[in-house]
Order: sequence, then C-alpha cells, then structure tokens
Amino acid sequence: MASLKKPKIAVVGATGNVGREVLDIIDEREIQFSELVALASPKSKGTTIDYGENKSIVVGDLSEYDFSGTDIAIFSPGAKVSSEYAPKAAKQGCIVIDNTSHFRTDPEVPLVVAEVNPEALKNFRTKNIVANPNCSTMGLLVAVKPLHDQFKVKRIVVSTYQSVSGAGKEAADELFNQTKSIYANEAVVKERFTKQIAFNVIPHIDVFMEDGQTKEEWKMFHETKKILDPNIELTATCVRVPVFVSHSMAVNLEFENAYTEDQVREIFKTAPGLKMIDYRADEGYVTPVECAGLDPVYVSRIRRDNTIQNGLNFWCVSDNLRKGAALNTVQIAEILIKDYLSS
Ligand SMILES: NC(=O)c1ccc[n+]([C@@H]2O[C@H](COP(=O)([O-])OP(=O)(O)OC[C@H]3O[C@@H](n4cnc5c(N)ncnc54)[C@H](OP(=O)(O)O)[C@@H]3O)[C@@H](O)[C@H]2O)c1
Repeated sequence: MASLKKPKIAVVGATGNVGREVLDIIDEREIQFSELVALASPKSKGTTIDYGENKSIVVGDLSEYDFSGTDIAIFSPGAKVSSEYAPKAAKQGCIVIDNTSHFRTDPEVPLVVAEVNPEALKNFRTKNIVANPNCSTMGLLVAVKPLHDQFKVKRIVVSTYQSVSGAGKEAADELFNQTKSIYANEAVVKERFTKQIAFNVIPHIDVFMEDGQTKEEWKMFHETKKILDPNIELTATCVRVPVFVSHSMAVNLEFENAYTEDQVREIFKTAPGLKMIDYRADEGYVTPVECAGLDPVYVSRIRRDNTIQNGLNFWCVSDNLRKGAALNTVQIAEILIKDYLSS
C-alpha cells in the first residue's frame, strides 16, 4: 500500500515530558512527514527544542496555530487545554491523538493500545479524535491481553507504584528539589504533591471520587473495560513513589479457565510489546530504573496465587513516558498512516 503523501504532523505540548519523547520517538522510528510542527503555550513561543539525532525545532504558540492542512496532531498539553483545542483541530480536518484523560471515556472516541485493540481505530472519523489510555492501564493491558485471550480474565487486583514524571516536568523537579533540601537540612517545599514525595510514598493520584477511590484508580477500571472487555472486574490502589521514570505494578489475576505457569511463560515470551525477565534469583527481575528509556512492557515475578482458583501474580514495569504515553501515540499515528491514510 503506497502512501498518498507524507503527512504533516504537529506535536502539541512539545516542551513537556511527553511531548519531548514524542519528538524523539518520531525521529527514532523514522516516521516520514512532509513537515513537523512543535506547539506549546505562549510562553514557549520561539524557543528551540533539541530532539533525536542532532535535530532541533522552533516552538510555536498553540493558540495562534491553524490546523487546516495538518494531517495528524499528537496532543499532550493537559486535559483542560486538549478539551478546548483538540475539537477545534479535529473540525479543521486534523486527526487528533490525545494523551490526556479528557476524551478517554467518550463512547465516540476510540481508546487504543496499539498491541491490544488497534481495530477500534476504525471509528476514529466520528470525532476525528483518538484517545491514548492512562499510563498505568497501558502497561497493564499489554501484559493482560494475551493472557485474557487464552484463559479469560475474570478479575484484576492491581497496586501501582507510579513515578513522579507521570505528573509532569514540574512534579519531577519537586522530587529533585525536596531530595536536595533534605540532604542540605533545609525546609521541604511541596507544591505539586499533597505530601512530601522525597523518601516517602503517597497513596493518592488525581482527585478523590465520592466512593473513596481516586480518579486514577477509577480510570484503570473504566479504561480496562473499554479497551479489553466490559466483563472484567478491576480494583486498583494507585500510589506515587519517589522514582523519576517508569511505573511499576503488582498484578493479581483471576482466570475463568485453568492455566499452567509454563503456558503463561510461553505466552509472555512471544506477546507483542512485552519482555519477560523472571529468574527467581538475585537480580532476576526488572526495576523501574532499568526500564527508563526503553519501549517494552516488562514482566517479572510470575507465580501462582494459591489462595484462589486459577490465580496468578506478576510484577510489571514500563516507562510511563514511552509506552505509557508517547510511544503508543506514535504507534497509533503509524497505524493510521498505514491502514487509513494510504491508498
Ligand atoms: N507524564 C506521563 O507519564 C503521562 C502519561 C500519559 C498521559 N499524560 C498526559 O499528557 C499530558 C502532558 O503530560 P506531561 O507529563 O508532558 O506534562 P508537562 O511536562 O507538564 O508538559 C505540559 C505541556 O503542555 C504545554 N501547555 C501547557 N499549557 C498550555 C497551553 N495553554 N497551550 C499550549 N500548551 C500548553 C506545556 O507548554 P509550556 O512548556 O509552554 O508550558 C508543555 O509542553 C497530561 O495531560 C498528562 O496527563 C502524561
């Protein structure tokens, strides 16, 4: 299938944690484009971002940009900004791939993990918007989908250990500054997090819902149902930890059908987007620092849960800025270009 033309691509929120990764990944994966545009807030207008192999790009102001003639825009400017500008861009004929939470539960907007439900993209024209899932849901479903296909997952119990970069570049600075302050015996300043994050963990991500769960936990429940299967039950506890990059998860699955650990290992060995490192020995498992900057979702500590029938435990880690955000949006752009924008 030959491409009609090389698409014009815009990266919105290009100066942020996720936006910078999007630019790097576009370069790494050698995405062919006619023009690449970087956009951010008015304060960044005219600044230059370095990305990829010795490349740089000048940032424009989103509020001044006309999306007519731009084929694909990857948006990561925060939910409020996306809610205003993504529909405008979509109306101007640009396909928006949105990284924020704003459109994820909209039934008319496909919510897509490239390895899990690329077929959902067939409905993207309804609003001209595609949503990228939450960074924790993303890693979880890359690992759970191949097991669900084989053994049918009934229930997921997941506890997350989420890095500070998941809350943006200022949140990552807060961990750095608090750590420095503690060593220098200075006062700890907290702005982005509700409690001290340095040398601490915080069981609170996003706002509280009426029933006591947080919005981050609510997102994992609803996004899993939308992407994978509405019959799967999920309960989550989402925790922020003093790690700069990569989200980890302790996952417990209950299957409908019987399984063996060998079968699970065989499935994990060949599943798309997944790497298994599981040796039941010192260092025979992954930790977040080892996964930062890498594309796959990693699984370790695979073992049967003997307290329920057909129960399985494992540990799962992925770079929240790559597979958790930027990489998946670029993979969606690749599928759109190959399967929908070509003749
Ligand atoms: N970090 C993650 O792991 C992750 C994962 C999945 C989804 N997301 C979502 O992706 C979005 C961005 O996250 P991030 O971590 O990259 O945040 P970030 O590092 O704080 O970056 C925010 C970006 O948005 C831009 N921006 C802010 N206000 C704007 C405005 N009025 N107009 C245009 N651009 C504006 C900023 O530009 P300036 O530099 O000019 O202010 C910056 O480029 C969030 O909605 C987040 O929930 C993040």
